[in-house]
Amino acid sequence: MDYKINSIVEILRNSESVMVLTGAGISAESGISTFRGSEGLWEKFKVEDIATPAAFYRDSDLVWRWYSDRRKGMLDAKPNLGHIAIAELESFFDDFLLVTQNIDNLHRRAGSKNLSEIHGNIFREFCINCSFARASNECYDLTPKCPKCGAKLRPDVVWFGEQLPKKELELSFDFASRADTIIVIGTSAIVYPVAELPYIVKSSSGEVIEVNLAETPLTQIADVSILEKAGIVLPEILKLLRKQMG
Ligand code: APR
Repeated sequence: MDYKINSIVEILRNSESVMVLTGAGISAESGISTFRGSEGLWEKFKVEDIATPAAFYRDSDLVWRWYSDRRKGMLDAKPNLGHIAIAELESFFDDFLLVTQNIDNLHRRAGSKNLSEIHGNIFREFCINCSFARASNECYDLTPKCPKCGAKLRPDVVWFGEQLPKKELELSFDFASRADTIIVIGTSAIVYPVAELPYIVKSSSGEVIEVNLAETPLTQIADVSILEKAGIVLPEILKLLRKQMG
């Protein structure tokens, strides 16, 4: 692994614009389940029962109970060494963007600032009828109602079949087209349009670094790929970067 850490640090030292893209794998070491693989959430639950607008329309109480359970788990979880290393990495670059597909708030809690939560944040909810929105840690058995108009509130997360938030999407795609480097961490890299970001970096002559426990479709085009836990690799990168860049 050492020579790969060296290559990554070399790439970072020659980069001005750095982008990090994370998925569920970065939070796995905080005890939060990933989606795919034998222990993944989508092995135990059906996406179409939970994470689609149709599911919410059919049985919003069921959907809220599921998200309430996840809220509780995510509230109890703590940022791990991987999250903390990414927050520190940011301080080395003037032009830095972290794009996360995770809704768990752990990057923010670790101190990341320039952050795009492209699939939303579970600790926010909004009204399906009016413009009401709020932050919330509450766990619900029944669907909460809007205090302004009485319609249903829903979690502020992007479901399958929904558009990604325009502002976050533009920010991420613009950044990718000028990024010198993207580090892709703990994502199966198959959910579009986010999975496209590394390809945009690559096609604009940027470098692609991947940190994942297993190979993904991205591994073939990655300039450096490390098959190891994010919580092990990222602190090592930081250690060497600190040593070389002060
Ligand atoms: N360190 C690094 N990688 C890890 C670790 C770890 N400790 N643990 C797991 N991984 C990797 C797995 O090998 C896998 O490639 O993390 C990846 C997790 O993949 P998914 O479960 O598919 O999660 P993600 O890529 O974030 O899913 C994308 O799909 O359903 C949705 O909206 C949901 O945002 C999510 C999107």
